[in-house]
Amino acid sequence: MSEDILFPEDFLWGSAISAYQTEGGNYSNDWFEHEQKVNQIKNNDRCGKACDHYNLFESDHELISKYDQNALRTGIEWSRIMPSENEVNEDEIEHYHKVIESLERNKLTSFINIHHFTVPLWFSSKGGFLKKRNLKYFEKYCEILSKNFPEVKYWNTINEPNIFASMYYLYAEGPPSKQSLIAFLRGTRNILHAHAIAYHKIKEYNPKSLVGIVKNFPYFIQKEEGKIWVKIIAKIADKFFNQVTLDMLRTGKDPFIPFVKKKWLKDTSDFIGFNYYNVANFVRKKGQFIDLEMKLPNDKRVTQMDWGVYPLGFYKGLMRVHKELKIPMYVTENGLATLDDNFRQEYILKHLVQVKRAIDEGADIRGFFYWGAIDNFEWNEGFEPRFGLIGVDYATQERIIRNATKMYGSIAKSNRITAELIEKFDLLGD
Ligand code: BGC
Repeated sequence: MSEDILFPEDFLWGSAISAYQTEGGNYSNDWFEHEQKVNQIKNNDRCGKACDHYNLFESDHELISKYDQNALRTGIEWSRIMPSENEVNEDEIEHYHKVIESLERNKLTSFINIHHFTVPLWFSSKGGFLKKRNLKYFEKYCEILSKNFPEVKYWNTINEPNIFASMYYLYAEGPPSKQSLIAFLRGTRNILHAHAIAYHKIKEYNPKSLVGIVKNFPYFIQKEEGKIWVKIIAKIADKFFNQVTLDMLRTGKDPFIPFVKKKWLKDTSDFIGFNYYNVANFVRKKGQFIDLEMKLPNDKRVTQMDWGVYPLGFYKGLMRVHKELKIPMYVTENGLATLDDNFRQEYILKHLVQVKRAIDEGADIRGFFYWGAIDNFEWNEGFEPRFGLIGVDYATQERIIRNATKMYGSIAKSNRITAELIEKFDLLGD
């Protein structure tokens, strides 16, 4: 018989959402504009009212708390706070105060995200994060947040700088639909600078707040494929997508600028938010020079996103970041899109086992946030993928309690994975 797997005391057990993907009614940002272009989003979906979380946040918080989670990572929508360049919308500031109060009332530790992909239309029309000179507008926004929300203890600055820059500027999968390596490099550099700007601004007003970047760490397959070209390309991609952020935080190295280190970029994360979903595997297919797949060729089961399941890459990534940065870590996103709730439970458990393994080997991991707390608008994939621990019926806005909701809650409540779950899902089998 196996033994229970115990997690550290005070471990945060939460889940995550972003403002745009759940709130609904956001019509003043670049994603809204992007969506209006026909055929941009799967099934021609539009974010529209999304989960109506803007109005239903209190009952959502109550539900999350009822199922025993003790934390929620959520976001503030910049285009609500600053609908135009020189306007601060006090009603929206009030709204987010209410959101934070409700989190507190429901005993949910809040992680508040400043930038999760979307920007106001007035900012994107100036060139958004592609223009270095636009960073001053972002700094202003951070100042407004710092002054108005001193109650926030945990700030997340930028969600996934690498995914943002590749989605926006490399794959043309988001506004402004650009496809250029130069734009990707410039965009990555500027958004990483934006992180450091946010860090300093918050610390200036609220030195006690804890501030961290949220970084997605895809695990680039290097050895498993065994082919030399895969190894070389994976190494380069890893450098561009992962290492630049680690180098910047550890040494102040200016992203993609040879030999330049800047003090103001160094040590700008009190903790790191670690997001993990999948492997990144380069393959060659007929008629194509190279393609990037989020699965391995022999993967038996994939998610609705066509992503494989590779918990080992999670463990390796956690250990790598721990060794390089030696700062507290929170898993700020990990999850899958599926209609099969058994698959969801197994996925969660298998990834939690790797979290615990990393903790046992010294990584200072203090919490885990499943993505997503509720189903969400999945950018170009629309509403089809079901990531939620709690489901959403978009026609009625009814919330659906999945078995995974209950299972995750029982783990959160007891701070352990029981021997029974270990046996049932054969967790130690591979
Ligand atoms: C993003 C989320 C997204 C999730 C699932 C993350 O990269 O932060 O916005 O919904 O992945 O694709």
